[in-house]
Amino acid sequence: MAQKPVCVEDFEQIAKQILSKPVYDYYRSGAGNQQTLADNVSAFSRWTLNPRVLRDVSVLDTSTTVLGQRISMPICVAPTAMQRMAHPAGETATVRACRSQGTGMILSTWATSSIEEVAEAAPDAVRWLQLYIYKDREVTKSLVLRAEQAGFKGIFLTVDTPYLGRRFDDVRNRFKLPPHLSMKNFKSFDLAFSKSGYGEDSGLAVYVAESIDPSIKWEDISWLKSVTSLPIVAKGILRADDARKAVQCGVDGILVSNHGARQLDGVSATIEALPEIIEATEGKVEVFLDGGVRNGADALKALALGARAVFVGRPAVWGLAYKGEEGVHEVLQILKDEFRLAMALSGCSNVEEIDKSLVRRNPWPFSKL
Ligand SMILES: Cc1cc2nc3c(=O)[nH]c(=O)nc-3n(C[C@H](O)[C@H](O)[C@H](O)COP(=O)(O)O)c2cc1C
Repeated sequence: MAQKPVCVEDFEQIAKQILSKPVYDYYRSGAGNQQTLADNVSAFSRWTLNPRVLRDVSVLDTSTTVLGQRISMPICVAPTAMQRMAHPAGETATVRACRSQGTGMILSTWATSSIEEVAEAAPDAVRWLQLYIYKDREVTKSLVLRAEQAGFKGIFLTVDTPYLGRRFDDVRNRFKLPPHLSMKNFKSFDLAFSKSGYGEDSGLAVYVAESIDPSIKWEDISWLKSVTSLPIVAKGILRADDARKAVQCGVDGILVSNHGARQLDGVSATIEALPEIIEATEGKVEVFLDGGVRNGADALKALALGARAVFVGRPAVWGLAYKGEEGVHEVLQILKDEFRLAMALSGCSNVEEIDKSLVRRNPWPFSKL
């Protein structure tokens, strides 16, 4: 594409041209027939904005806090695994872009850069670690302790992945990491996803079945709390009763997420699940959302429905594939500009002024059909 990308969709088109098919497929895919993948995005159009006017929006402040950390906008970067397939600098480029934009990044357990490399690349960035619980609890504990030592500010515990969702393209491609890369948080060949053969399946699905603990339950949050004093966010909650349980178990936050539609196909779009979780948690913990956020107005809608901040997964990966750190910086800049404009055109000077009255249910969600 010769023209400069101006929105998130443009970045995806460019990334598609740059990346090899198995890599693009891995980043893009959802599970199953990808019903939820499409719905995560389109569900935002089922909510319309209800702007206020004549409210002096000459001075604008998009900043907020997440788990006590000040960030420049309520849009942060979600954990996406194996970013060095998109660009040689991978996660170190993403974290630098987040730092220069003043926002936060969640590093995946399955990163192709280690916890320490990412810390070193941007010591003063707001960084959190996404955690999978391994069958070997010592392995899990050591990830948490390393994150603590490296200045990460919280743990996002993924609770929706006892097994990996079935992603057809990854099965067809027999997805695995290119041989020059590995999951850098691990030394052993097996845990680093570097074995030579994973059979006929998606290599990642085999990896998960071999190493991730499918027996985890609510009590494991207490275990996690016993090994760290970092704030803990449950990532992957979609129902009110689970949200209440998470609060009872002492989490500091909930990330309403369906894993970018990569786990169970047919679940609701995250923006649809958000209101009942906001109601259930009664303001006791911070609630975040990811899934399908593709522009600043989407983020505004999520905040109006009660989210403290949103996270973007694929948009950052497309920026990374396009131009490494600069590409992620550009994607975040576009999202920031769009969010600022949407906020201003809704009559809000800062995020505290965003409230429920700014959104209403679109009475004609299928009017384009
Ligand atoms: C390529 C890719 C890899 C991902 N890897 C992880 C991961 O390692 N851990 C995790 O908890 N979530 C992972 N996710 C889910 C994201 O954290 C996030 O929930 C999702 O991408 C948000 O949806 P979006 O891509 O529509 O913004 C991944 C998503 C994608 C697209």
